[in-house]
Amino acid sequence: MSVVAQIKEKAKAKGRRVVLPEGTEPRVIQATQKIVEQGICKVTLLGDEARIERLAKEHGVSLAGVEVINPASSKDHAGFVKELVEIRKGKMTEDDARKAMLTPLYFGAMLVRHDRADASVAGSVNTTGDVLRAAIHCIGLKSGITTVSSSFIMTLPKFRGVENKVFMFGDCAVVPNPTAEQLASIAVSTAETMKNLVGEEPRVAMLSFSTKGSARHDDVDKVLAALSILKKDHPSLKVDGEFQLDAAIIPEVAKSKAPGSSIAGEANCLIFPDLDAGNIGYKLTQRLAGATATGPIIQGLAKPANDLSRGCSVDDIVDVSAIATLLRG
Ligand SMILES: CC(C)(COP(=O)(O)OP(=O)(O)OC[C@H]1O[C@@H](n2cnc3c(N)ncnc32)[C@H](O)[C@@H]1OP(=O)(O)O)[C@@H](O)C(=O)NCCC(=O)NCCS
Repeated sequence: MSVVAQIKEKAKAKGRRVVLPEGTEPRVIQATQKIVEQGICKVTLLGDEARIERLAKEHGVSLAGVEVINPASSKDHAGFVKELVEIRKGKMTEDDARKAMLTPLYFGAMLVRHDRADASVAGSVNTTGDVLRAAIHCIGLKSGITTVSSSFIMTLPKFRGVENKVFMFGDCAVVPNPTAEQLASIAVSTAETMKNLVGEEPRVAMLSFSTKGSARHDDVDKVLAALSILKKDHPSLKVDGEFQLDAAIIPEVAKSKAPGSSIAGEANCLIFPDLDAGNIGYKLTQRLAGATATGPIIQGLAKPANDLSRGCSVDDIVDVSAIATLLRG
């Protein structure tokens, strides 16, 4: 069974609820039917009720059992506006908050904040920046985490004799040039995503162009600073570095380049030093090694909200909804 199929099975067993703020997008309406039919989770759609019903009819979709809320006429609107002004502490006027809360992205994030939905999934018609900003403002960050980031589940058809070998890559889509503190947060979040979604014990490698002091450079120092934060603040996390990629995942190379490390050669979570490396790294693995890339999975928020690509398919929306509800832990 593929990783995504396993995730869908796990999501079904949890029976959670996803809010899909882009309720007037035909792909979202079609995905809703599949999510409900497959029993992945319950669905709340946001948007004008009459428009959603008309679109559903046009696409032959039944909305039986689906909650539909129009943020503009919801009885929660005024309360959410007041709360957003309080959360933003002087950074948003009441007028700004009222306008924001009329947008399904902010309203959906507020439903997650209040546990009226377990996760929000959007981005089929909104930009990543808009999706993440609404989530950061309304849901906020997980305690102990300084940055929202992302990871990809990379599934290799075959790696060193193992079929469907899974690696988690972070961060490949959100933080362009992380500080050492942010890099440490990316490592903690990626390890947690590995545990929650794949169910494997995370073994985290902090990647670099240097292995255990083979090169000296400010960029290597940043990775080492992140490692020392992780060792101090997260003593139970299995993490080591700095490693070149081969030392992280190939036991024979690890033996010569990083003898004595329990992570070297055995890592399953690869933390890239910046977004250039992460984004290029996941695409190389996808295009040259034939890996399936599942993500980006947004991590570090206090409660899950996930982004979609604007080119996403109906099935992508179904898969990401399953992933997002499971990220609730
Ligand atoms: C969040 C993001 C998506 C949008 O950034 P932005 O539009 O510049 O957002 P802003 O700078 O206006 O920040 C909005 C708020 O979120 C906060 N923020 C931005 N990025 C954050 C992050 N990664 N984690 C936590 N908070 C973050 C800011 O501090 C700001 O808070 P404030 O409003 O309280 O001051 C940003 O991480 C980004 O642009 N990443 C690059 C994504 C990208 O281009 N990917 C391409 C490869 S797929």
